[in-house]
Amino acid sequence: MLSYRHAFHAGNHADVLKHVVLIQLLRYLGQKETPYMYIDTHSGAGVYALDTGFANKSREYETGIAKLWDRKDLPEPVAEYMQLIKDMNPAGKMRYYPGSPYCADQVAREQDRIRLFELHPSDGKLLEDNFRKLEEHAAAQGQRSGRGKRVMITKDDGFVGLKSLLPPPSRRGLVLIDPPYEVKDDYRRVKDTLADALTRFPTGTYAVWYPVLQRMESRELPDKLKRLQGKDWLNVTLSIGAPSPDGFGLHSSGMFVVNPPWTLEPMLRDMMPFLVSALGRDGQAKFTLESGAPVTGMRAPRKV
Ligand SMILES: C[S@@+](CC[C@H](N)C(=O)[O-])C[C@H]1O[C@@H](n2cnc3c(N)ncnc32)[C@H](O)[C@@H]1O
Repeated sequence: MLSYRHAFHAGNHADVLKHVVLIQLLRYLGQKETPYMYIDTHSGAGVYALDTGFANKSREYETGIAKLWDRKDLPEPVAEYMQLIKDMNPAGKMRYYPGSPYCADQVAREQDRIRLFELHPSDGKLLEDNFRKLEEHAAAQGQRSGRGKRVMITKDDGFVGLKSLLPPPSRRGLVLIDPPYEVKDDYRRVKDTLADALTRFPTGTYAVWYPVLQRMESRELPDKLKRLQGKDWLNVTLSIGAPSPDGFGLHSSGMFVVNPPWTLEPMLRDMMPFLVSALGRDGQAKFTLESGAPVTGMRAPRKV
């Protein structure tokens, strides 16, 4: 089903959580000189205008990025994320919001590789157009010679395409799996794709974004992921408040990370209370953070 357009949701509280974590995972990989590969199985359009079109209609960014824009007290990881966004809005007005491909492009180095999948024809084209402009801009600044091999965009199914890229040549990499979950099957495909990917590239880091909803598939997903393949995992959720009475709108989301860097948990423990207080809309705003190895593993889950 291809009715989903991420522009409606760009910059909302769920994007804030996802993109802050994504930037930190990439920064960690960038600490070693050896190149890494970033794979985005569900890329979206890459860049979103907030002041026109779908994003301006839904105004979901008011639950996320808009609440952080003028804050002067951002914890370090949120400040890094905000700096990336301010850099793409040099006039100082909040006009553009970065999708995961743009975040990755800004954080990844010349030697790293970025592989992007997007199935929706319109978003696939926007993604290509946005990256063409980015590369032209970088080339004009003398920063890069052109698109070359660094970024590759495939307008196809990312669940399927991922297989052919694993393991990456340098055996270092991060995979973001961020489907729309508008169809039940996305939950199953996330689990199956991750299980398969872990057999091909067991040491990779994998980040799965998911909505926290009442539907059974959503409630069961984290536990199913915990049971995969004997790997360390971390699960963080952010709820901005009670679900709305009519059940519409997303009030909570999570990032499930397999093979997380050791730095991620302490960083989140410091940062999440800030996000709860900055983005929370009522007394039921909260975060959860747990980590461990699978049920059969050596380490019992820890809750924070
Ligand atoms: C949640 S959005 C991605 C947002 C993006 N990762 C970000 O953080 O900026 C999900 C995207 O996946 C696309 N999509 C849906 N099914 C897909 C599939 N099987 N393979 C690749 N893309 C898909 C949708 O068109 C949509 O643009």
